[in-house]
Amino acid sequence: MSFVVQPTAPSRPNRCQLFGPGSRPRIFEKMAASAADVINLDLEDSVAPDDKPGARRNVIEAIGDIDWGQKCLSVRINGLDTPYWYRDVVDLLERASGRLDQIMVPKVGRAADVYAVDALVTAVEASVGRARRVSLEVIIESAAGIVHVEDIAASSDRLQAMSLGAADFAASMGMRTTGIGGTQENYYMVHEGKRHWPDPWHWAQTAIVAACRAHGVLPVDGPFGDFSDDEGFVAQARRSATLGMVGKWAIHPRQVSLANEVFTPSEEQVMEAREILDAMERAGQEGSGATVYRGRLVDLASIRQAEVIVRQAEMIARTQPS
Ligand code: COA
Ligand code: MG
Repeated sequence: MSFVVQPTAPSRPNRCQLFGPGSRPRIFEKMAASAADVINLDLEDSVAPDDKPGARRNVIEAIGDIDWGQKCLSVRINGLDTPYWYRDVVDLLERASGRLDQIMVPKVGRAADVYAVDALVTAVEASVGRARRVSLEVIIESAAGIVHVEDIAASSDRLQAMSLGAADFAASMGMRTTGIGGTQENYYMVHEGKRHWPDPWHWAQTAIVAACRAHGVLPVDGPFGDFSDDEGFVAQARRSATLGMVGKWAIHPRQVSLANEVFTPSEEQVMEAREILDAMERAGQEGSGATVYRGRLVDLASIRQAEVIVRQAEMIARTQPS
């Protein structure tokens, strides 16, 4: 291990982030009643330009009026290239109740973007005497964002989570697809005459996971647009979980339980991890740093792998409303 110890990411469940347009207040209560760990009220791309001021008012009212339970309550503001974002931040912090937990900054392209939002947030918080610091989350969804991903992950001590936004990312990269996440028809390999579809999002995901893990930020997979395709959603989510992401967005309520299931370690996974820890403890007592578990090698690294799963399961169990 490097002399520099890897920081831990925030210890809170982030298995599913449920989105809803700020211009559609009738669904806010349903969002609050959902099983999502994080709620993202949107002021950005699901809200038409003429509806921006109304959506902002709806969201500010709902933050105080609705019982959001234990959920992490986040609002996605508009991008820094728009005339809306500063008013989003100022009004959210000056006018909404203190219940707001987090602000999501879209289309972040460099660390200075987060610095700018942090500076404004810090000034408004100090001016209104806000008791609790609001945290930040960002979306990596541009070529600039992925190129500067590590600097962005290290940009602010308010930063808790980072998501991959597949649609804007694809557009910025000039990818020839209109799908939001998932398998891409024309991204295939041929082996012995048969087509296989690799994962075009893999590189961006692993870059995000590495940047996040190096700087104590939660890596999250973004939207999967075809909400009638449960199997496709689950496949994408399982790949993300395997790569180290902790959760995924839901853009429709039916995706919430799918995400929760994938990102909660299963009983079998937890049992296996505990058995590995037990096997390694016995090996340690016998003075050995490696042993055999179900026919395969386990060693000191296996302890760290197993602990990731056990810790995640315990944290989720601890934070579930009973
Ligand atoms: N959160 C909570 N409830 C929602 C919801 C959401 N995001 N979207 C829809 N619902 C509710 C509907 O009100 C409806 O409730 P009802 O059964 O009580 O009438 C039920 O879920 C089924 O909705 P459905 O008819 O299948 O969907 P829709 O046509 O009303 O809406 C979308 C579909 C995709 C437009 C809508 O889900 C949505 O706006 N999603 C979020 C989009 C977004 O925020 N994008 C930005 C991030 S990429
Ligand atoms: Mg986007």
